[in-house]
Amino acid sequence: MMRSYLLNYFVLVALISSSTFAFDVFKVITPNKPDVHDENIMAVVVKVDTNVTDLLSITTDENLTYTLDIIGNKEYYCKNIPIHLGDNEVYIKAYQGDKLLKEYKQNVYYTSKVYKQFKYPPLKFEYNYFHKEKNEKECAKCHDMSVNEVKGVAFEDVRKSNCYTCHKPIGYKKHAHAPTVNWLCTSCHNGTVGKYNRFDVHKSKYTVADPIGTVCLTCHKKTKKKWAKERFKHEPVDSGRCNKCHNPHGSDEINYLRRPEFDLCTSCHKDKINGSHIIRTYSKKIHPVRGKKDPTRKDRELSCVSCHEPHASNSPSFIRAKTVMGLCSKCHEK
Ligand code: HEC
Ligand code: HEC
Ligand code: HEC
Ligand code: HEC
Ligand code: HEC
Ligand code: HEC
Ligand code: HEC
Ligand code: HEC
Repeated sequence: MMRSYLLNYFVLVALISSSTFAFDVFKVITPNKPDVHDENIMAVVVKVDTNVTDLLSITTDENLTYTLDIIGNKEYYCKNIPIHLGDNEVYIKAYQGDKLLKEYKQNVYYTSKVYKQFKYPPLKFEYNYFHKEKNEKECAKCHDMSVNEVKGVAFEDVRKSNCYTCHKPIGYKKHAHAPTVNWLCTSCHNGTVGKYNRFDVHKSKYTVADPIGTVCLTCHKKTKKKWAKERFKHEPVDSGRCNKCHNPHGSDEINYLRRPEFDLCTSCHKDKINGSHIIRTYSKKIHPVRGKKDPTRKDRELSCVSCHEPHASNSPSFIRAKTVMGLCSKCHEK
């Protein structure tokens, strides 16, 4: 009799402890797979066994370390960390005093549309979407996971956006795009998909159509009208892939370009890098394409965009004049 009572008691204790901490020391909620990222930040969320852990540390392969003290019985620890282009290693460690209890390593890949060497993540990396009911449930204990934006109305205080707590860094780029700084995230992340990401349907509440062009042009109406009248359209513009050249959230460059103009254009047009295509004469002279002042644009350097429209034009090769001679004369007297 006594024996079975004791046995039941132990089983019960075991059940209780295993249901509270069904993991050893900590469980990494994200990143828990070799994810692919399109942005330079990543969320780390860890659930810890508060009975044994005093301190959690997150270290990147650029030797940035974030230490988080374990407070009382608070089980969840959340931190946004910067990531660099390519393969990133992230280490998560738990300590009791000086004693290392557990170490965890995950690789994630930050990919790029304009740096060729980072364009194709190795096969082990995949896009794994986060915003699904089953993932959000755990966060909803502390975070409001609903959308509280009013279509087209900027937040007076952006910190009130439900997206802000978790995605704050996205709104603080050097040059930031209006709908992003106003936290009108779902004006683009409306859960739809396009021809190039049709297999992502229902994978996240906040998918964005690829191509995104028609979404951009619902706001940029004047631009749309202007381009509609142009005879020649640049292929990546015509196919709606605005985000190949523009970061939709913002960037260090004006117009939210993903790279400075010259580097952006030559990331696809390598053969034009030395400007030898410009003057076709028997003279050995090669026209400069950079490193000189642009006489047509105040405070800007000469670049591909000095002579070419990036989007569309009525002139062949989208030159910024009706004729080639007309173009030359914008900067040269004869
Ligand atoms: C126990 C409560 C709790 C739970 C559960 C929780 N969080 Fe948090 N989280 C917080 C608090 C508190 C903050 C800090 C808010 C602040 O500073 O304004 C935070 C901040 C964050 C941040 C921003 C971190 C930074 O460096 O700015 C991210 C990202 C985040 N949480 C993601 C998640 C995700 C994803 C989940 C679900 C898997 C989750 N959190 C579950 C309490 C929680
Ligand atoms: C509890 C924190 C949290 C909140 C609140 C939150 N997100 Fe996220 N979101 C994440 C995490 C974590 C990821 C995974 C990417 C990462 O590591 O940063 C993510 C990813 C995304 C993605 C990429 C697609 C996907 O599903 O992975 C989009 C788009 C996005 N969030 C938009 C939003 C919008 C819009 C809101 C507000 C309506 C919002 N998020 C609110 C934590 C949060
Ligand atoms: C102008 C359209 C637009 C707006 C506004 C916008 N996004 Fe995005 N977002 C995109 C596109 C397009 C992508 C796909 C990746 C790319 O092109 O860089 C993306 C990707 C993301 C990702 C995935 C990043 C990753 O690492 O994989 C997150 C997270 C995200 N957006 C969050 C937000 C949040 C939060 C807001 C609001 C503050 C927002 N976005 C506003 C267009 C937009
Ligand atoms: C929800 C509406 C909205 C959407 C969607 C939107 N934009 Fe914008 N965009 C704006 C507003 C508002 C401005 C600021 C305009 C201004 O200051 O004249 C802006 C500014 C810009 C600028 C800078 C223009 C300038 O003159 O300073 C660029 C470039 C741009 N957007 C590109 C895009 C691209 C690319 C997309 C799609 C990925 C897009 N936008 C989608 C509203 C939007
Ligand atoms: C091939 C790269 C490329 C693509 C693709 C591209 N843009 Fe641009 N965009 C640029 C460059 C470069 C500038 C800066 C032009 C300048 O400095 O005169 C710019 C400027 C802009 C501006 C602000 C100034 C202006 O010319 O009106 C808007 C708005 C804009 N782009 C919207 C879009 C939209 C919407 C799309 C997709 C339909 C798109 N862009 C696709 C390269 C691109
Ligand atoms: C994402 C890749 C990509 C980027 C970035 C890009 N282009 Fe293009 N461009 C193309 C493609 C694709 C074509 C059409 C195929 C071709 O003729 O090479 C094209 C065509 C052109 C043409 C017309 C060729 C012709 O014979 O009609 C010009 C001019 C041009 N691009 C200039 C630029 C300039 C200037 C920039 C920088 C603002 C730029 N491109 C950035 C992909 C790109
Ligand atoms: C000083 C003016 C000027 C600059 C700077 C310039 N181009 Fe051109 N580009 C031209 C002219 C002129 C043509 C020929 C147009 C014609 O014959 O119809 C041309 C043609 C082109 C073509 C299409 C024809 C071909 O040979 O394939 C592409 C693509 C192109 N340029 C890309 C670029 C890129 C990329 C840059 C920057 C590295 C650049 N251009 C810089 C003036 C310029
Ligand atoms: C957007 C302005 C701009 C346009 C358009 C332009 N150029 Fe130039 N060009 C320059 C600048 C800037 C220089 C460099 C001047 C210097 O070295 O100070 C230059 C230099 C030259 C040189 C001297 C090159 C050398 O090596 O000394 C020649 C020749 C020339 N351009 C011819 C042309 C011809 C032909 C056209 C039309 C196809 C043209 N340019 C269009 C801005 C322009």
